Amino acid sequence: MKKILDMLTEEMAQAFTAAGYDGALGRVTVSNRPDLCEYQCNGAMAGAKQYKKAPIMIANEVAEQLKDSKVFKEAEAVAPGFLNLKLDEEFLLEYVKGMAADEKFGLDMPENPKMIIVDYGGANVAKPLHVGHMRSAVIGESIKRICRYVGHEVLGDVHLGDWGLQMGLVICGVQERQPELVYFDDSYEGDYPAEAPFTISELEEIYPASSAKSKEDPAYKAKAMEATCKLQDGVRGYRALWKHIMNVSLADLKKNYSSLNVDFDLWKGESDVHDLIPEMVDYMKKEGYAYISDGALVVDVKEETDTKEVPPCMILKSDGASLYNTTDLATIMERMRLYHPDEMIYLTDKRQDLYFDQVFRCAKKTGLVTPDTKLRWLGFGTMNGKDGKPFKTRDGGVMRLETLIRDTKDEMFRKIKEGREMSDEEAKQVADMVAVSALIYGDLSNQAPKDYVFDLDRFTSFEGDTGPYILYTIVRIKSILGKYAEQGGDVAAAQLCKPLNGSEKELMMQLTQFNTMMPAAAEEIAPHRVCAYIYDLANAFNHFYHETKILGEEDAEHKAGLIALLVLTRDVLEACIDVLGFSAPERM
Ligand code: ARG
Repeated sequence: MKKILDMLTEEMAQAFTAAGYDGALGRVTVSNRPDLCEYQCNGAMAGAKQYKKAPIMIANEVAEQLKDSKVFKEAEAVAPGFLNLKLDEEFLLEYVKGMAADEKFGLDMPENPKMIIVDYGGANVAKPLHVGHMRSAVIGESIKRICRYVGHEVLGDVHLGDWGLQMGLVICGVQERQPELVYFDDSYEGDYPAEAPFTISELEEIYPASSAKSKEDPAYKAKAMEATCKLQDGVRGYRALWKHIMNVSLADLKKNYSSLNVDFDLWKGESDVHDLIPEMVDYMKKEGYAYISDGALVVDVKEETDTKEVPPCMILKSDGASLYNTTDLATIMERMRLYHPDEMIYLTDKRQDLYFDQVFRCAKKTGLVTPDTKLRWLGFGTMNGKDGKPFKTRDGGVMRLETLIRDTKDEMFRKIKEGREMSDEEAKQVADMVAVSALIYGDLSNQAPKDYVFDLDRFTSFEGDTGPYILYTIVRIKSILGKYAEQGGDVAAAQLCKPLNGSEKELMMQLTQFNTMMPAAAEEIAPHRVCAYIYDLANAFNHFYHETKILGEEDAEHKAGLIALLVLTRDVLEACIDVLGFSAPERM
């Protein structure tokens, strides 16, 4: 379906042309003075110079052409030369009917869908997720869903930190505790046990302890580095132990991600490209991109237009070891081979900006990607506590994501129980859903690059710009629809009809913005646009709800029309929260 503003602009352009002016002046926008008009056109002001005529004269002539318009009910020329516009209700009704009849509410699918890979999550194996991981997970998940909704083919990849020194440290930590394990016996040739020699909680203790020890004890650090090498070189016992670390950790990561409705198509990690590195390094050397500098293998990535120094991209350290860079570049190479993406989108915290600049430049320069492959990085800000500092536990430690989710669910449970009669079991179910909306919406409603303050009280409030408010609105609609059905009404058969009051029309006009908002959110990789839209839509609905008798409406046809409008509003809201990554209960 055409976007409504394009249709209004076409109508206006015709009026400009008919009055003898350039049609290009007819651009219509949403009004910035909603108290005066619904839409506006400032073309007469722009045309004044071109035609050496007072803008109000042009505006008057154009307004004259719109007298019998089927699109604008009112086109009023006001000093000094604005055109204030009101929409024809019949036209609006037809537009909204078109939306209701379409599975995606009038959103056109792209002519050339893109293949996009979203790289988000980025958890490190054997380390618990902490609050900082929430942003990457929920923003990435939403971007994946938005891009998919607008018609692209999208794969989400968790890109685990599952290789390198951190794994060597875990292996050494295990060896410290259980030196007798068969994995450390180089002469062992039998099968390794199927059972992991540790639980997830043991694993989570091992890494920090081992990491701390390596900082104090150089001999221990050397041992960890050696373990890393043995793992990467494919020593059997080390690989077998690593598999156990992976399995135990992954099960736990999946559980935590899924509690935020986050799921990945690809559970790949840095380890997956280990075998591609020699080939990539050879290629970069052979083509003359990579050279040795102070013993390390590097690729220059600075450009003439740089205003700050961009150091070379290091491919191999002087001891021949690979780095974070190396695995990212090899991953790009692998993705190009396996999935031929048109675009790759990376989510990490803001501090990695120089890093991604280097990696992207290096991938382009060395031809790992084609010149038209789009590499995008979205750096997000920090989630802070009320004191404005990075979110911490009460005793100043790093808060685990699990704890944050549990605290939010507990608080939500308390609030739900407080106001209603509900069994504990149902209240718990509802509270869990609402809590997830509070967390996700609280995060996504901010522009990603900005820091934000995590405010449990505000995020879990049923009022204001919050997830629970949006869900509350949806549940309110569902409840009215339920009552209509109880009274014998047929919700599915209800047909939209012409709006009779201002707030009803407002709600319809708000709905028409859906197919403009969603592609923009995808293009700008900006979930906050979806949040801003549904906040406006929920407000428009609640305003309408307070002004309108719905179930009390006596005219059966208009009553059915209101019901159909509710259905559409519910469906659009639910499509939007689905791309944000949460869903609404039936009641709350
Ligand atoms: N594991 C990394 C970290 O904890 C994040 C990975 C981000 N993605 C990437 N392709 N580098 O910082």
